Amino acid sequence: MRRKGFFITFEGPEGSGKTTQAQLLYQHLLSLGYPVILTREPGGTPIGDRIRAILHDPAHSDILPTTEILLYSASRAQIVGQVIRPALEEGKIVICDRYADSTFAYQGYGHGLDLDSLRLITAFATGGLVPDLTFYLDLEVEEGLRRKRAAFERGESEWTRMDQKELEFHRRVRQGYLKLAASEPSRWVILNAMEPVEVLQMRIRQIVEERLHEAYPGHSQQG
Ligand code: TMP
Repeated sequence: MRRKGFFITFEGPEGSGKTTQAQLLYQHLLSLGYPVILTREPGGTPIGDRIRAILHDPAHSDILPTTEILLYSASRAQIVGQVIRPALEEGKIVICDRYADSTFAYQGYGHGLDLDSLRLITAFATGGLVPDLTFYLDLEVEEGLRRKRAAFERGESEWTRMDQKELEFHRRVRQGYLKLAASEPSRWVILNAMEPVEVLQMRIRQIVEERLHEAYPGHSQQG
């Protein structure tokens, strides 16, 4: 049986602007009167936020890749069970800033962990929950890290253990994302993150509204 809600995720390398786009989309859907929630990974629950703090602490440079995948997956299991699945079952739209594709991109392609093992762990953590629609904001990793560093220096963003990894790691992550998107074109929409924020948001809204029209045929816009 198809669940009732609609699950949208945002993915991208560091500094791609996906958090801004997810927030703008959330505000827009709220203004149209849709039942919608916005959340993020890792984190999004009290337990997940504590796991996030462990994962992102720059002092934890000795975390093993296997520990890392299990911690990201633990945070994911908690948010799926406590937040995402219940919201979808109530018919809500869920927007999540990163989800399981980040694991394939970062731990799989970035660290080189075995993708089949990651699929098994991810399926166990999520109970097989896959997004209906995934936006991927693509940009050169140097540009993304430059943007993120500048945001950190303005006090608007974290500078995490992941951000300080070598350039080659971030390049593998980006290439991984492009492979993931190419392997499932009906779910992924690739966007050029160098375009202005407003242009990207217009395109995102257009795609989402078309898809929601199918998923919520009786919805009349109130905004
Ligand atoms: P961000 O959401 O602020 O970009 O921070 C999340 C960081 O965690 C980012 O560096 C990507 C990383 N990450 C993984 O490595 N694997 C995962 O499964 C998730 C959700 C995030």
